[in-house]
Amino acid sequence: MHDAVVTCFGDAYAGIDPELRPATRPEFGHLQSNLPLRLAGPLGLSPRDIGKRLLDAVDTSGLGTLELAGAGFLNITWSPDILEVAVGGLLADPQLGVPVPETPRRVVVDYSSPNVAKQMHVGHLRSTVIGDSLARVLAYAGHDVVRQNHLGDWGTQFGMLVEELLGEDLRDPAAVADLDMSALLALYQRAKARFDDDPGFADAARLRVVALQSGDPTTLALWRALVDASMAEFDAIYSRLGVLLTDEDFDGESRYNPQLPGVVDDLDALGLLTESAGALVVYPDGFTGRDGAPLPLIVRKADGGFGYAATDLATIRHRVDDLAVDRIVYVVDHRQSQHFEMVFAVARAAGWLPDSVEVQHVGFGTVLGPDGRPFKTRSGETVSLTALLDAAEEAAAASYAAPEVAPLVANAAVKYADLSNHLARDYVFDVARMSATTGETGPYLQYAHARVCSILAQAPQQSYAIGPLSHPAEQRLALELAGFAAVVTKVADSLEPHHLTAYLYGLATALTGFYENCPVLKADGEVRQTRLALCEATRRVLSRGLRLLGIEAPRRM
Ligand code: ARG
Repeated sequence: MHDAVVTCFGDAYAGIDPELRPATRPEFGHLQSNLPLRLAGPLGLSPRDIGKRLLDAVDTSGLGTLELAGAGFLNITWSPDILEVAVGGLLADPQLGVPVPETPRRVVVDYSSPNVAKQMHVGHLRSTVIGDSLARVLAYAGHDVVRQNHLGDWGTQFGMLVEELLGEDLRDPAAVADLDMSALLALYQRAKARFDDDPGFADAARLRVVALQSGDPTTLALWRALVDASMAEFDAIYSRLGVLLTDEDFDGESRYNPQLPGVVDDLDALGLLTESAGALVVYPDGFTGRDGAPLPLIVRKADGGFGYAATDLATIRHRVDDLAVDRIVYVVDHRQSQHFEMVFAVARAAGWLPDSVEVQHVGFGTVLGPDGRPFKTRSGETVSLTALLDAAEEAAAASYAAPEVAPLVANAAVKYADLSNHLARDYVFDVARMSATTGETGPYLQYAHARVCSILAQAPQQSYAIGPLSHPAEQRLALELAGFAAVVTKVADSLEPHHLTAYLYGLATALTGFYENCPVLKADGEVRQTRLALCEATRRVLSRGLRLLGIEAPRRM
């Protein structure tokens, strides 16, 4: 198509996107293009004239048919042979057609990143689910993925927490490391109350921060115990959610503490640092507040403590210099987007982030409650992730008899609902809707997978051979199957998982149309073989596609 445009209308149109899109209706064929309509203006010709010239110039031999329709649309219908070859290729390739990239990249995916001695809340849900899916897709697309869980495990709040432990005579690190989440939260509340009410305690807590930073052994041991206690709780949630994160991926803020003075010194030596009301700040180019005044990135606070930004700058240096990455992806709430833009700008200005390294903040919207406002409990607190998963599991247990399936269905409901939204959009956490077994949900796709598995189980065979695709519903399914590789590559590039969820839903819909029109087990001979091969290819794509979303698809439900 592209070559035909150049042949007909000259080199000025080289590089034009032929705009092939899935046909809006089956009778229009498989793909359609409105290129003639779009070129009519610039060429000063009627769309139908342009269409006729393109029809003559495109070589469709062996591929299918091209037709001019309506005001000037081009409809493309692949030949059944081409679709058959595509499914055959899929069945023969363990990678299901996903190509190995010409230059695989080393990519950090920074995700989940909860804070120690605090509960993981709904805001961390999206980071965990989206980040995990992106890590899976990038790895499957052939990149070298480094998962990083940038835990909030350092900062002034630890002065208060350790001081409270000592005040309560909880001095044994082993016992502290065994505290569960509710005990940690209760400790946090007690410490916070004392900090606010008792000036003597507040002063002691501040001195405790200094002790922590200067490496006092008692303070460090208790801090470490608090981190360990939280990590055990986070690990339990990760394993429940079935995400890939392990202890090896922990990349806590504390790890960068020794580098922070160097960040300040180097920024100073580069002439980028300014003093502002006792704090040390950088004013990156192009960032202004509402009043038009330049916005500062605070590197060291007036009290001498280092901020979140200093840690993120040190983290970039580590990732670029030591991990030798080509791309860094931060999966964090969109409210932090300005923080990241400024950190990236400062890192570029300082020469710590070469142009060859791509950095992206994958921001995302808020999870809303049934009332359409940010999800809160009745008493106004943020809802814990555990409470959400419990609710989803309860809904799943009501629909599925097999108890071992309920946790998988709950995860599918929560993850699919999250990933199928455009990242930037807020969405309502509606357990009933996302757990439904019909409509565009995770459980529906798991069910589609289990159903195809049950057909295949009734006709076990060693290998699958695809033959001619004579029925339109077979062709439709084959067409969907052939799109898998492109959608995986698209998600790896765009970092938008909703393309994959929509693709899998389209595939499941085509599968339903196929079942309705094409008996599999009751068919004979080559037709039966072909239909079984289509079922097998669909099973593989559904199961792999769901797994790339972090969703397990059981064979039976
Ligand atoms: N701990 C932070 C929070 O809960 C998220 C950290 C994200 N990653 C980063 N490199 N800053 O808001």
